[in-house]
Amino acid sequence: MSTIVSRAAETAHPESAAPTVRTSLRVNGQTHEVQADVRASLLDVLRNHLQLTGTKKGCDHGQCGACTVHRNGRRVNACLTLAVACDGDEITTIEGLGSPTCLHPMQAAFVSHDAYQCGYCTSGQIMSAVAVLQEPCGATDADVREAMSGNICRCGAYANILAAVQHVRREG
Ligand code: FES
Ligand code: FES
Repeated sequence: MSTIVSRAAETAHPESAAPTVRTSLRVNGQTHEVQADVRASLLDVLRNHLQLTGTKKGCDHGQCGACTVHRNGRRVNACLTLAVACDGDEITTIEGLGSPTCLHPMQAAFVSHDAYQCGYCTSGQIMSAVAVLQEPCGATDADVREAMSGNICRCGAYANILAAVQHVRREG
């Protein structure tokens, strides 16, 4: 038996054919020890193991941006990120960005600019927008639209999303 197969067998869950692995995740400043399927996405671990359901599953294929979180300060699609690969990384989700009584400026701007309708894409839009302002993105509307193009909004709230992002760029 190969080393890989031996290790998989050692960590196999008794009720599942899929091997699991223990992973230490730092999420929103707290450390969580998670025993999850080695194939589990960061998105599924956040939602199903840690009950952080603010991060949404849209396509589960890296095409919509609904699952955007920050990994070590950079935006990633959580549906395309293996949870086991995030061992020891700093993960920030929408729940860690602000609180209902103390919104992050980007959250407040989305509210004041009416930058959502159904809200399903909104947490991903906000996490992307916060990251965009840390990236070498140009300041024009076209630059921001391009940088945010990985975040799809079925409701078509793009104009107000752009206005919110540009408001935070200008006002902080
Ligand atoms: S759910 Fe991850 S990109 Fe769509
Ligand atoms: S607000 Fe409905 S998908 Fe964007």
